[in-house]
Amino acid sequence: MLRMDWEPLIAAAAAVRANAYAPYSKFLVGAAILMEDGSIWAGANIENCLPSLTTCAERNALTAALSTGLRKPRAVAVVTDTTPPASPCGLCRQTLSEFIDIGENLPILLTNTAGEREETSLDELLPRRFKLGPVA
Ligand code: THU
Repeated sequence: MLRMDWEPLIAAAAAVRANAYAPYSKFLVGAAILMEDGSIWAGANIENCLPSLTTCAERNALTAALSTGLRKPRAVAVVTDTTPPASPCGLCRQTLSEFIDIGENLPILLTNTAGEREETSLDELLPRRFKLGPVA
């Protein structure tokens, strides 16, 4: 891939983070995903008084993109206010994995409101990930 321009993704993730609904944890997360057509989809975490119903920012962003018919995430940025920047949870890693073939990778940028940035990838965060054979 050509050098990735993270700025639009960071801006989208930082903006949507303001819409997080996190009255229980008070931990606001924003995520933005670049899809195959160049569009960017954003999501914030939405909590619930039943904790298992909480959805993370990353999955909310991905669901918004997938619901339009897009299927190939090309890059993900996550914004929190922690140092070091927070990393996607296991559920979100596996959910992203569903749309990334083995042999492909997905760049993931972890950032915080202080401006720290750490670039990682799905291969690094979820090595030897589980996939069924092609089904679609
Ligand atoms: N959270 C995310 O939205 N993304 C992550 O990668 C980690 C955790 C949310 C879930 C919950 O609302 C809050 O952060 C604390 O766990």
